[in-house]
Amino acid sequence: MIRPLAILLGASAVVLSLATAAQPVTFEVPLGDTPAELAGADAEVVVNNCSSCHSLDYITTQPRGKGAQFWKDSVTKMVNVYKAPIAPEDADAVASVLARKLG
Ligand code: HEC
Repeated sequence: MIRPLAILLGASAVVLSLATAAQPVTFEVPLGDTPAELAGADAEVVVNNCSSCHSLDYITTQPRGKGAQFWKDSVTKMVNVYKAPIAPEDADAVASVLARKLG
């Protein structure tokens, strides 16, 4: 019974010393890079509004040729179903940029 207790105390000491040595860290959320199709300044509204919850690959891996209504509906779904905080004028801008770039 002595050995498990010693291990437990030792582990607690390590955890405590790590906690006191904690430094601020910076990290990048691993949402990936901006795909080439959305890299230009004209797609900034998409990058700004659509990359906080998931990778932009969710957008660029959709099948092509779905049409403007598909992109309008996708943006509406993000807002209504997933509560994406997107201003109505930005939502329209995102939908039209995606319709133009991804079809
Ligand atoms: C508030 C978080 C949030 C934001 C912001 C967001 N999405 Fe999403 N999106 C989601 C969730 C949740 C899913 C579903 C994930 C899954 O099924 O794995 C998703 C999935 C998608 C999909 C995959 C197809 C589908 O309908 O499930 C597309 C396309 C998409 N999002 C486009 C967009 C676009 C365009 C924007 C910017 C207007 C955006 N998302 C912003 C949460 C968000």
